[in-house]
Amino acid sequence: MHDIVLIKGDGIGPEITDSVVEILAAAKVEINWIPALAGMEAFEKTGNPLPDETTALIEKHKLALKGPLTTPVGSGFRSINVALRQNFDLYCNIRPALTLPGVPSRFGNVDLVTFRENTQGMYIGQERWIDAEQTQAESIAVVSRYASERIIRAAFEFAVKNDRKKVSLIHKANILKYTTGLFLKVGQEVAKEYPDIIFNDMIVDNTAMQMVIRPEIFDIIVTTNLFGDILSDLASGLVGGLGVTGSANMGDEHAIFEAVHGSAPDIAGQGKANPTALLLSALMMLDYIGETDKAEKIRKALHRTLLDKNVVTGDLGGDGNTQIFTDALIRNMR
Ligand SMILES: NC(=O)c1ccc[n+]([C@@H]2O[C@H](COP(=O)([O-])OP(=O)(O)OC[C@H]3O[C@@H](n4cnc5c(N)ncnc54)[C@H](O)[C@@H]3O)[C@@H](O)[C@H]2O)c1
Repeated sequence: MHDIVLIKGDGIGPEITDSVVEILAAAKVEINWIPALAGMEAFEKTGNPLPDETTALIEKHKLALKGPLTTPVGSGFRSINVALRQNFDLYCNIRPALTLPGVPSRFGNVDLVTFRENTQGMYIGQERWIDAEQTQAESIAVVSRYASERIIRAAFEFAVKNDRKKVSLIHKANILKYTTGLFLKVGQEVAKEYPDIIFNDMIVDNTAMQMVIRPEIFDIIVTTNLFGDILSDLASGLVGGLGVTGSANMGDEHAIFEAVHGSAPDIAGQGKANPTALLLSALMMLDYIGETDKAEKIRKALHRTLLDKNVVTGDLGGDGNTQIFTDALIRNMR
């Protein structure tokens, strides 16, 4: 039995988490879900969008599945996602982008995984005005050998474990010689320890172009925080968007699995939400906890279900809804 913290989240969060919980139960994965609050619901009930109790539960159980959270506008608190990453040192953001059957996209052959450094780079919050008139601003990026090495190593280890062939390190070391230059240098060193994995490096602007021309040349991408933020969304776009890509934030001890889309307030409570992205995140979670057979069984049923326009949700051009999709997927698992 696995103890896993469940944050249903806001907007469509409860609908898609209910769907995923139902699918995992139908696959007979033994999970003891531990409910916890975060986001707007937590803010309204406790005055805190990330209550200490939620942090303590994740600290204790190490694993969480999280629905999307609405960021209350004007309340002045920082992003809950950023806070979770910092609290649990979730340095590794993993975003697979895989062409799925039946999902409209421009390419039919994408299978790449982005490893984004999640704690440093341009996202350390070091920005300020240079002059009182606010005509100039500056932002500081920090890249350390320690943080670079652990994310690059995570990418190589993933490649080895998943029988992947190639790791591409993305940088801008021709201009940002110190920060991304250090990231590249560390990558070249770590790559020597993995002689069976092909290693190459590529400048980020060229990468963006190559990804939309011939995405099949990419296998594993590892990069710094800002580049990873942008390129992982680009990768999602290659396979049909944020509604069909999962995501994991991992540290050495804790891991939080979440969909990358938001709480979709425009369709919340209407049964229109597509649970695929959160389900794909949950499948990454099952692989992580060693439930690979059950993950594979659900994955196969998902692929079959996505082909049926009568059951998929409107965002994928179907006539179904969240419950119809969930029921069909469970039938396809049998
Ligand atoms: N990881 C997170 O928790 C996260 C990520 C992004 C945005 N947000 C928050 O979500 C709220 C809404 O943000 P937004 O509107 O910019 O982005 P959004 O991703 O919620 O919605 C963008 C569009 O995509 C649609 N959509 C998103 N997910 C869908 C799904 N699973 N099925 C069907 N359609 C889906 C929505 O209906 C909407 O039209 C904001 O409060 C924002 O801060 C949270």
